[in-house]
Amino acid sequence: MKVTIIGAGNVGSTCADAIAYKRIASEVVLLDIRENFAEGKALDMTQTSSLLGFNTKIVGSTNDYSKTSGSDVVVITSGIPRKPGMTREELIGVNAGIVKTVTENVLAHSPEAVIVIVSNPMDTMTYLTLKESGLPKNRIIGMGGALDSARFRTYLSLALGKPANDIHGMVIGGHGDTTMIPLTRLASYNGIPVSNLLDSESLNKVAADTMVGGKTLTGMLGTSAWYAPGAAVAFLVDSILNDQKRIIPCSVFLEGEYGQDDICIGVPVVVGKNGWENIVDVNLNNAEKELFEKSADAVRNMNDALKSI
Ligand code: NAI
Ligand code: 2OP
Repeated sequence: MKVTIIGAGNVGSTCADAIAYKRIASEVVLLDIRENFAEGKALDMTQTSSLLGFNTKIVGSTNDYSKTSGSDVVVITSGIPRKPGMTREELIGVNAGIVKTVTENVLAHSPEAVIVIVSNPMDTMTYLTLKESGLPKNRIIGMGGALDSARFRTYLSLALGKPANDIHGMVIGGHGDTTMIPLTRLASYNGIPVSNLLDSESLNKVAADTMVGGKTLTGMLGTSAWYAPGAAVAFLVDSILNDQKRIIPCSVFLEGEYGQDDICIGVPVVVGKNGWENIVDVNLNNAEKELFEKSADAVRNMNDALKSI
């Protein structure tokens, strides 16, 4: 089982580390354009193997795609964050160029791979990758909901004073702080609806904290977060490589499901060896449906910026 991660920066290298440590794959290739950067990260991580007890081969590469050949999964984290003074269209222009080139290179060496998109704006980059690559829709997965749901479960765990592992909850919709939808109605603690345990003020605060989860960390760290994002990608890759068929909210191409067409946006999907296998309908109520529609409008608006590049 071989995984390639494009971009050996904060998220890419944390993800490689989690995949090796949790023995999710037998080989991880980290590729970056920065000379010797991915090689350095790979060597450093390899030196943890006797301490952490794993045997995963970790390979670094400076833009040499031949090392990525035959990957089962390719994760794309390459891109830049929005800089002061930069418009959204400019950011999309730069990252779209990177994601397009990277996808072409990746597919030339791993034509059968499932592609996981992490680069932001993630829903738009996922849509672009699908359109540009011509791959079957099930092989293109945007990672955002796994992270947002982990943040949701964390804030629920803090509010309840219970372990996050015993709490289930999902965030769907766009991966943005005004577009994501924490499904508080369906969240539970060991099967007990959280609405039985928390008052509506506390639940609203959990949802609000979840929605600005990424922004809060960017404010604290000066750049976007990486531990939870890297772990969320590893969790998704595990479900693909090991055919776990977990239900994970992911950005996938909709053709009528959830009332939407021609868009990639977060919905719960079953994730296994072929990528996303089917979309799960959680029967949104009217208020949730309205939020989902608004979220889709915002993502579509972002996708429109692709037309000008
Ligand atoms: P980073 O700046 O630490 O790493 C990005 C890496 O990509 C750099 O090492 C850079 O040299 C490399 N790179 C740039 N162009 C490349 C190319 N053409 N080929 C190969 N490598 C290339 O950034 P970080 O924090 O790792 O974030 C990466 C991306 O992931 C950003 O777009 C960020 O906004 C996004 N992100 C998305 C999340 C999600 O839930 N979808 C969560 C966190 C971050
Ligand atoms: C995050 O949610 C910014 O997408 C990044 O942390």
